[in-house]
Amino acid sequence: PIIAKLFDESQTELRLAEKLGINRAIIVPGNADLQDHVFGLLGTELNAALDLLLPLGQNTITVLGGKTMAEIVPNLSSNLSHHRQLMFVPGRGALGESVEIQSNTVCQVMAHYSNGKYRALYLPENVSPEVLRSLTQDPSIGEVLDYISNSDAVIHGIGAADVMAQRRDLDLTVKSQLRQQDAVVECFGYFFNRSGQVIYKIPRIGLQLEDLFKIPHVFAVAAGTKKAAAIKAYMHNAPKQTWLITDEGAANSILNGI
Ligand code: G3H
Repeated sequence: PIIAKLFDESQTELRLAEKLGINRAIIVPGNADLQDHVFGLLGTELNAALDLLLPLGQNTITVLGGKTMAEIVPNLSSNLSHHRQLMFVPGRGALGESVEIQSNTVCQVMAHYSNGKYRALYLPENVSPEVLRSLTQDPSIGEVLDYISNSDAVIHGIGAADVMAQRRDLDLTVKSQLRQQDAVVECFGYFFNRSGQVIYKIPRIGLQLEDLFKIPHVFAVAAGTKKAAAIKAYMHNAPKQTWLITDEGAANSILNGI
């Protein structure tokens, strides 16, 4: 079996965490852009980190979507539920992106592998602020939103801005605004430039950036050289308690000053 390298913090990991201003960086060997097996390694490290940090008893874990999240999920194990009751909730209600990578799906599959429970949140994306407000009045939606804002942990990916603008099907005006203002990263529906300033925010229900700061454990999972600039830009806004789980492809590129 692949053994997690969690307790063996390297100098490179220390340097990366310090450079990004976060509590911990875990770097797995390889480059996810070229090697699919890297996702398995990221998942193994995430499993070990959750097992180390989550307290025993009841835990609510908010889970975001994306390809990375979908790929790492099978590496979670039912050991996480030993003396714990895990409730997974989706960080957003995304309808309108492929089912396999929606946070609802990732959340459900995570619950399956880790022997936990889950809740679903099915909502349209890209609706007006008025519609959003009235949807949050619905009791079943409100219940999931309460779970999200009282989470014990969040697990999320970090996306390259151009890829995410395409995937989220943003309109042409917004896409050109993002290009003109040099957006490099998208996370939780926020697009940021290289210095971490917000360029654009997709109006939507679910986890908001400000919620992150009061959530005890935050795990960002993103890897591959192509993600390096996005990871670095997002980390200007990340809460200090973030643990980044990444690979050598992204880490070396960040440390060599992309
Ligand atoms: O918001 C970030 C994205 O969910 C990351 O997605 O793992 O498919 O690049 P990805």
